[in-house]
Amino acid sequence: MSENKQRVSRRQFLNYTLTGVGGFMAAGMLMPMVRFAIDPLLQPEAEHDMVQVVSVDKITKEPQKFDFKINQVDGWYESEVSNSAWVYKNDNGDIIALSPVCKHLGCAVSWAEDPGNPNRFFCPCHYGLYEKDGKNVPGTPPMGPLDVFDSQVKDGYLYLGKTKPNPVGGA
Ligand code: FES
Repeated sequence: MSENKQRVSRRQFLNYTLTGVGGFMAAGMLMPMVRFAIDPLLQPEAEHDMVQVVSVDKITKEPQKFDFKINQVDGWYESEVSNSAWVYKNDNGDIIALSPVCKHLGCAVSWAEDPGNPNRFFCPCHYGLYEKDGKNVPGTPPMGPLDVFDSQVKDGYLYLGKTKPNPVGGA
């Protein structure tokens, strides 16, 4: 049986040791920086993305506008942003929360503001109209329905989250 021993010179030993220690120290310095940089990406979608808006017993069959504030996190910048929703109960008792932002050019819509269309959402900027469920009225400028908010009811309160496309679809 032959022995295949390799001798390590003092120079090689020092090289290996210094490389190992240097690498360990560099990793120790870089890890917190990397963690700091990508931390927002590692955070799970927070439940507090849903914001308490109104007590459910205040919601009627007639759309009402409710204002609320959302905590907006953009990377490391956190701010409070005002928002609002048109909220009502439909004939099945389901709560519908519509975005007030017109899908034409982004003006704010109002419920029953146009005397000629008492049961529709109206956008005063270019006379846009939407049905109660948010569907755009053909022949008016908006090409799609009002967005709806993600919503949930907890402990008697309505919570709203992000907006998403309205399932009623466009006219
Ligand atoms: S912005 Fe609403 S109709 Fe133009």
